[in-house]
Amino acid sequence: MQQTQEKILVLDFGGQYNQLIARRVREQKVYAEILPYNRTSVEEIRRAGYRGIIFTGGPNSVYDESSPHFDPAVIDAGIPILGICYGDQLLAQMAGGEIRSAAECSEYGRTPLELRRCELFEGIPEKIVCWMSHTDQVSTPPSGFEVIASTSNCRCAAICDEKRKLYGVQFHPEVTHTEHGSEILRNFLFRVCGCSADWRMDDFIENAVEQYRRELDGKRALLALSGGVDSSVAAALLHRAIGENLVCVFVDHGLMRKDEGDFVEHTFKDRFGVNFIRVNAEQRFLDRLTGLTDPEKKRKAIGEEFIRVFEDEARKLGKIDILVQGTIYPDVVESGRGDASTIKSHHNVGGLPAVMDFERIVEPLAELFKDEVREVGTKLGLPDALVHRQPFPGPGLAVRIIGEVTRPKLELLREADAIFRSELEGAGCPSDQYFAVLTDLRSVGVKGDARTYGRTVVLRAVTTDDFMTAEWTKLPLSVLESASSRITNELPEIARVVYDITSKPPATVEWE
Ligand code: XMP
Repeated sequence: MQQTQEKILVLDFGGQYNQLIARRVREQKVYAEILPYNRTSVEEIRRAGYRGIIFTGGPNSVYDESSPHFDPAVIDAGIPILGICYGDQLLAQMAGGEIRSAAECSEYGRTPLELRRCELFEGIPEKIVCWMSHTDQVSTPPSGFEVIASTSNCRCAAICDEKRKLYGVQFHPEVTHTEHGSEILRNFLFRVCGCSADWRMDDFIENAVEQYRRELDGKRALLALSGGVDSSVAAALLHRAIGENLVCVFVDHGLMRKDEGDFVEHTFKDRFGVNFIRVNAEQRFLDRLTGLTDPEKKRKAIGEEFIRVFEDEARKLGKIDILVQGTIYPDVVESGRGDASTIKSHHNVGGLPAVMDFERIVEPLAELFKDEVREVGTKLGLPDALVHRQPFPGPGLAVRIIGEVTRPKLELLREADAIFRSELEGAGCPSDQYFAVLTDLRSVGVKGDARTYGRTVVLRAVTTDDFMTAEWTKLPLSVLESASSRITNELPEIARVVYDITSKPPATVEWE
């Protein structure tokens, strides 16, 4: 989808910072998209009318046969290029320069850098500290290029051919450790590429609504709504475009937190008037979970049952042309990458039956990062509680009940969880995700003068940027105290409350 006339291509050679580069460009209100080097041609790049191209870093050496390469015609396409790290070496090699691998000259981390005058470094002090991470480096710049920055170990730390608007930097301007890094990127965008900062969320919404109104005219579309941020924003956007031709199916597996299913239904049905079907499937899921105690078996059973319920609903709806999914940009970029070992089988509502017959899949948020998705949600009028909802696992409370899942246990956990959340939120404590877990552990207690033998609830709160790693949140003791006291007073079955002080790794955020 083309949002704007002005866009920058981030050509991905496998570097770990590709998303960060795109993010930094968008922060300057210039639209950026990431394309993999091996699925993009120079013709496509020319046709798409990019204002500039950024070659990302990559883990390889340009002289490896198997390392990523690109059609050298790109440097004569008349489009400004900024190569970063591997991208700098690749640009130099394509233009006829030489690269050398010298372990003794490798640089990692903060490195002093001296700059010379050029468009890219306009307004930046001559001496800065940059972030380096390389072994190879450009040893001889291509003809027509000059050296515009050096470090003590790397003479060609930046090169340029100002006439052709080709720039290469060995360091990483996209990371915050590089001083004036965002100014360097700004110089590339505005001085070199002539961008004018026209990327606005309102344009995104307007263009997307207009586009889908046109393309999906007269078609019926189905969206599996989980109540999470992404599928909710996708629903609100598509509803604005095609109105009642959008059917949202919300499978309530009965494993939601207290009042959550009603909140989702109320938001979409009453507030937006969306064609909304809530399937109350609690009994089906509970039947399926009977006797299961192994976490992976529980997760798989829920994923499969979800598909069965969905198939049954879809059959009732008759022919549907379009499937709408709330896929967001990081999902697109990450998919198909490597083969990380399975820590847990993640179940997402996107996991729909492969056999379902759709003419087309529409992913209206596939170009946006999470914070951009939230911004769109707010602009579309979704309530804050939904837009800023903390992540909730697809299998819901089933992975927060240790052992077999039963209705009484679900009810107990829902109450304990609601108390903890209200105490934490009432005290205004910042934490990225927080919840209660119901364990199978029983312990002896005393209430009044009588002995009790009740269950143990665990409170968990984590602080994290990306949920790949997480710290346990240092909650004020007063919050823990009031949560513990309310839970044991209001829920007689609970004899003990404990706080989880394990970070990820070695633990995971969820208990199962
Ligand atoms: P873990 O437990 O893997 O959780 O450290 C990291 C983040 O992912 C969420 N999570 C899930 N989300 N389907 C999801 O959509 C799942 O099956 C699932 N399991 C965990 C978890 O809540 C945390 O935010």
